Amino acid sequence: MKYIRITNTDLMSSNIIMGCMRIHSLPLAEIDALIKTAIDQGINFFDHADIYGNGICETLFSKAIGMNSTIREKMILQSKCSIREGFYDASKEHILESVNSILERLKTDYLDVLLLHRPDALIEPEEVAEAFEILYTSGKVKYFGVSNYNPLQIELLKKQVRYPFVINQIQYSVVHTLLIDESMAVNMLTDQAIDRTGYLMDYCRLNDITIQAWSPFQKGFFEGPFFLDSKYAELNKVLTDYGKVYDLDITGSAVAWITRHPANIQVILGTTQPQRLVKACKGSNVPMSRQEWYAVYKAAGNMIP
Ligand SMILES: NC(=O)c1ccc[n+]([C@@H]2O[C@H](COP(=O)([O-])OP(=O)(O)OC[C@H]3O[C@@H](n4cnc5c(N)ncnc54)[C@H](OP(=O)(O)O)[C@@H]3O)[C@@H](O)[C@H]2O)c1
Repeated sequence: MKYIRITNTDLMSSNIIMGCMRIHSLPLAEIDALIKTAIDQGINFFDHADIYGNGICETLFSKAIGMNSTIREKMILQSKCSIREGFYDASKEHILESVNSILERLKTDYLDVLLLHRPDALIEPEEVAEAFEILYTSGKVKYFGVSNYNPLQIELLKKQVRYPFVINQIQYSVVHTLLIDESMAVNMLTDQAIDRTGYLMDYCRLNDITIQAWSPFQKGFFEGPFFLDSKYAELNKVLTDYGKVYDLDITGSAVAWITRHPANIQVILGTTQPQRLVKACKGSNVPMSRQEWYAVYKAAGNMIP
């Protein structure tokens, strides 16, 4: 397992994260086994959100592992807030309430990282700054970040928030490459050149914001893993072939393609199966060559102009 220092923090984190969005489908014993498998593989970072299972995922997580201070100190715990039933809410009041409930469910006194889950169109940076100030000074949150934000939205918050934004969690995989497509087609008339993220990858690298890739295996917006889709036959073949070179299965290859990027992107795995998690973790630190990396990108149907 490769470890990275999350810039502007004292967190040394595995570059693979266990995502906890889907664990509500499992009995407690299986959640416990999944967490223990993750820890055995070297994962020390766990991603939550208050809306995963409407809070149930956080409750089951702490219950299954039997959360106590010894276990807690070995983990980096991250959660998110600001998505509510049918609307977004990054108001001061909601952020503070959410964190109190998250801490209660996770049975901990503090979060290592709190992310604002999705941009609230009605956001008021002054309110976010006030909420973060209270959370930091009370010791409830050590570091802050965002999810699904573009550069200008982060800049807007930075006008008021005095803490660094250390994470931006966003969808990124070999079948969802908007973060890099636009930067390879600058000044062209093709669709690939359309700036959909505000050059977010470059912005995050320039501003020391660690990118976390959510849904590393899903096509579209939760439309199932691309491994099972004949539309991606060429990609699946190329990933399988490179997997043979590096002793990886196809999930490990798909992870390796993400971790190969020099931006130190963290991969958030959503699997509920320990064996799949073990195989995916093998992609944490693989010396994929430039030629191989570009071949995978191309096999996913992308153009190299
Ligand atoms: N910030 C955001 O807006 C946001 C949005 C979505 C997710 N997230 C975070 O990202 C994490 C990962 O997201 P995700 O769960 O969508 O990621 P994912 O790892 O791409 O997808 C996991 C799902 O794919 C299935 N799967 C994987 N490989 C498979 C295969 N070979 N055959 C059949 N099924 C396969 C898994 O089934 P099994 O369980 O059976 O393996 C599971 O249902 C979440 O847990 C959450 O922490 C964040």
